[in-house]
Amino acid sequence: MTAESMDELVALAKRRGFLYQASELYGGLQGIYDYGPLGVELKNNLKAAWWRSMVYERDDVEGLDCSILTNPKVLRYSGHEDTFTDPLQDCRACKSRWRADHIEDGRCPNCGSDDLTEPRPFNLMFRTAVGPIDDGSSFAYLRPETAQSIFTNFRNVLDSTSRKPPFGIAQIGKAFRNEITPRNFIFRVREFEQMELEFFVEAGTDEEWHERWVQERMAWWTQQGVSPAHLSLYHHPAEDLSHYSKATVDIMYRFPHGVEELEGIANRSDFDLGSHTRNQDDLDIHAKVMPNPDSSVRLAVHDQQAKRWSVPWVIEPSAGVDRGVLAVLNEGYRVEQLDNGGQRTVLALKAHLAPIKAAVIPLKRNHEGLVARARAIKAELQRLGLGRILFENTGNIGKAYRRHDEVGTPMCITIDFRTIEEDDTVTIRDRDSMAQERVSVAELGDRLRGMLAASDSASTMTAADDGA
Ligand code: GAP
Repeated sequence: MTAESMDELVALAKRRGFLYQASELYGGLQGIYDYGPLGVELKNNLKAAWWRSMVYERDDVEGLDCSILTNPKVLRYSGHEDTFTDPLQDCRACKSRWRADHIEDGRCPNCGSDDLTEPRPFNLMFRTAVGPIDDGSSFAYLRPETAQSIFTNFRNVLDSTSRKPPFGIAQIGKAFRNEITPRNFIFRVREFEQMELEFFVEAGTDEEWHERWVQERMAWWTQQGVSPAHLSLYHHPAEDLSHYSKATVDIMYRFPHGVEELEGIANRSDFDLGSHTRNQDDLDIHAKVMPNPDSSVRLAVHDQQAKRWSVPWVIEPSAGVDRGVLAVLNEGYRVEQLDNGGQRTVLALKAHLAPIKAAVIPLKRNHEGLVARARAIKAELQRLGLGRILFENTGNIGKAYRRHDEVGTPMCITIDFRTIEEDDTVTIRDRDSMAQERVSVAELGDRLRGMLAASDSASTMTAADDGA
């Protein structure tokens, strides 16, 4: 079961502190959101799961964290200055602006007028002045994708790690696009995060690696709790491909507003490394790149045996963090009818994604012995480094269970008089089945560890030396 509408998710997200409209008290800023106390945990957990599977569980990927402000030349040679545009149309009647491909029947979606301007390209990059003088000559772009800084650091990573293709470089970070019509909550926003891997391979092995990464990424999303029934693949027709792409496959997800792209997996050919390379003349570059007299390096690898330089090809799985958050929120959301006639809202997130891993709740609010024992158990569990453990001193167990169901806490731990007076056991309550069980405090760490390990089992694909 998923949410029936985006409104349900928006309401839950605001009520429980997952997401807020940015600058809300001044009327907001369109297409920009802030993550609240639970949202930041969920988002960090999703990013950590990606990083674990990409960098730690493999032996052929290095990580990077690069700057957002980007020298315009990077985005000139990448092709973004010329081609990173959406077709824009203005409505002459109500002055609203639209992406031409979002307009149906040639009529303004706001007022219905057919008095629209011809579509014209609108560049999506944000730019900002750098340094104290704002004369238009000294500016930088806010990066529109994290990918470019991976390419421009290719030589640095090669030199400092002695890697050879096939290998990858991973990065998670913010990207900015001046979307003409941001919409659908955090689905299409102007400031967002990407999780991108640029995987460098030898020419000729690209198609096999591309297929492999599509399978790997589908498996990863299902590991995050996304039902395979809600995922599908979309193969871009040749005429719609981006300027750098030989082939692109999108992982599509059934969002509450419709089936749309969650992640794109592109075969970027040798375009990027080729286009940022100085003196390309003696290199056998497949992609059409413009001459580059500005770069200071050659982004190629030297084959000692063949005594030649070659430019690696790139397979790029590129996922949106915010779209991922929206997908796992939607997947986990359900409203259940209870036997007693009541209802409960549950966020059945995978445990490794849950913002709070366990809530420790004393049966009575002001009872010194119960509160002290609960605090000690919380501190002990927190030290295990498994994520956020919450001490919850509300004194109403039923309400606490409901609240934690709704924010996805997989385990509640109740401390009662038997705990402190008899046998140091507690009640643990499972979010999904609502089953309760008595376990000793000494066992709690293993229980939590087991729950998280089962939730985030190892990735299906291992290192490059498995052979492509
Ligand atoms: N480096 C390749 C690249 O950026 P993309 O398809 O433009 O490719 C990759 O973006 C992913 O980034 C998308 O699949 C989507 O998840 C996310 N994304 C792109 N634009 C977005 C936006 N305006 N708001 C939220 N997420 C976005």
